[in-house]
Amino acid sequence: MDLGLTGRSCVVTGASSGIGRETALQLCGEGAKVLLVARGEERLRAATEEAMRAAEPAGGVAAALKLDVTEEDAGPRMVTACDDLFGGLDVLVNNAGAAKWRDLDDVPDEDWRAQYELSVMAPLRAMKAAIPPMAERGWGRVVNVCSTAGKRPSAAMAEYSVAKAAELSLSRLFADRYARTGVLVNAVAPGPVEAEMWMEPGGLLDQSMEISGAASREEALSEAGSKRPIGRLAQASEIASAIVFLCSERASYVAGSAWSVDGGTVQVII
Ligand SMILES: NC(=O)c1ccc[n+]([C@@H]2O[C@H](COP(=O)([O-])OP(=O)(O)OC[C@H]3O[C@@H](n4cnc5c(N)ncnc54)[C@H](OP(=O)(O)O)[C@@H]3O)[C@@H](O)[C@H]2O)c1
Repeated sequence: MDLGLTGRSCVVTGASSGIGRETALQLCGEGAKVLLVARGEERLRAATEEAMRAAEPAGGVAAALKLDVTEEDAGPRMVTACDDLFGGLDVLVNNAGAAKWRDLDDVPDEDWRAQYELSVMAPLRAMKAAIPPMAERGWGRVVNVCSTAGKRPSAAMAEYSVAKAAELSLSRLFADRYARTGVLVNAVAPGPVEAEMWMEPGGLLDQSMEISGAASREEALSEAGSKRPIGRLAQASEIASAIVFLCSERASYVAGSAWSVDGGTVQVII
C-alpha cells in the first residue's frame, strides 16, 4: 500500500529512542522529510544517522533538532526549523515522554507538575504552533502518543496516568476543532514496549522488580507480558506502524480517535 507520505515534512518529538526513533525510521522509509527532536545530543545524532540511511532508498531526508519540548517556545521553534529545512510542516508526532514506577504516595508535587508540562503543555504548544499553517494549506496530520495508562490509570504510574488522560482529552479537543480543515488529529495508546523505557538499566522493568519482588529480569518481563491478552510486550516498530498509518494519506477518514495499540490490554470496545 502506498501511504502517500513521499515528500511530506514531519516533526517527531522524542525521536532519539524507542517508539519515536522507530516512527522516524519508518516515515523516512516512506520517503518523508523528518525532523527528529530530542534533548540528548549523542543519541539524537545516532538516530538521525540511522534515519538518513532508512531515507536514502526512498528519497527521504532526516535532520536533527536538539530541543527540550517543555520549553515555552519549543512549538514555534520546531515549526520554524521545519519551515527552514523542508519548506513547511505536514505531520506532527508528539511522542516525547517519560515515566517512573512508584507508589502514589511517593510522587512529589514537582513531579506531577513536570509530567503535566511534558505530556500536556508540550503537545499543546506544539499543536498551537503547527496546526494553523497546516489548516491554511488544507492538509495535516497530528498523532499524540499517549498510553494505556491514560485510558485506565496505572496505580504504579500515577502522575503519568493522569497526564496521559489529559493528553487524550487534548487530542480529541484539537481533532474536533480542526477536522473540517483537513488537519486530522488522533492519539495512540500503546501498551508496554520492549524498548529503552522498560528495558534500559534502571528503567521501568527494574523499577517494577523492586515492588513485585520478581527474582530476575526475565521473570519480570514474562510476568508483564502474561498480563496482556496477546501474551507479550510490544516491539517499538509495532507501535510506530500504527502511528505512521495515522500520519498517512490512507488515514483520511480517521479523526479524534484514541487507538489502543496494546495487545488487547485495555478491555473496552470504544
Ligand atoms: N515504552 C512504553 O512502554 C510506552 C507505553 C505506552 C506509552 N508510551 C509513550 O510513548 C512515548 C515514547 O516512549 P518510548 O518508550 O519510546 O520512550 P523512550 O525510549 O524513553 O524515549 C523517550 C524519548 O523522548 C525524549 N524526551 C524525553 N523528554 C524530552 C523533552 N523534555 N524534550 C524533548 N525530548 C524528550 C527522549 O530523549 P532525551 O531524553 O534525550 O530528550 C527520547 O528520545 C512516550 O510518550 C511514552 O509515554 C511508551
